[in-house]
Amino acid sequence: MNNIRWGILGCGRIAHKFANDLKHAGGGILSAVASRSVDNAREFAKKFPAKHIHGSYDDLVNNPEVDIIYVATPHGLHRDHSIFCLEHKKAVLCEKAFALNSRQVSEMIECAR
Ligand SMILES: NC(=O)c1ccc[n+]([C@@H]2O[C@H](COP(=O)([O-])OP(=O)(O)OC[C@H]3O[C@@H](n4cnc5c(N)ncnc54)[C@H](OP(=O)(O)O)[C@@H]3O)[C@@H](O)[C@H]2O)c1
Repeated sequence: MNNIRWGILGCGRIAHKFANDLKHAGGGILSAVASRSVDNAREFAKKFPAKHIHGSYDDLVNNPEVDIIYVATPHGLHRDHSIFCLEHKKAVLCEKAFALNSRQVSEMIECAR
């Protein structure tokens, strides 16, 4: 796929780094950004323009113009946020620390399958 439509869930530090790197990666576009605060999402989108600016994670996972979501929240939330995305049929990129323990990892993998 040449134009993978990325969404970012959580607009903190690692989200900034990811969005910056995405500009150089090719093959994808930043379609949507989501924060718990729409003001924070708007600030983020000033630096990294996106078609959709969401003030909730719920809106992001329900956005049909998002293929894959980068989970950029603290790792204690990775399990819940990854499964939340997967249950809405979104692909997920979740980096280290992947989860808190192996049980959570198993739950995430099982849901993805
Ligand atoms: N791959 C790597 O090398 C690397 C390096 C650093 C960090 N990380 C990963 O990225 C994670 C986040 O690190 P960060 O430095 O980006 O942290 P951060 O700046 O605090 O950003 C985390 C974001 O998560 C969202 N969030 C949702 N619920 C939250 C809650 N209950 N408490 C705090 N934030 C919440 C917030 O975004 P909104 O308010 O916009 O919703 C917040 O800005 C780390 O835990 C780690 O897993 C990976």
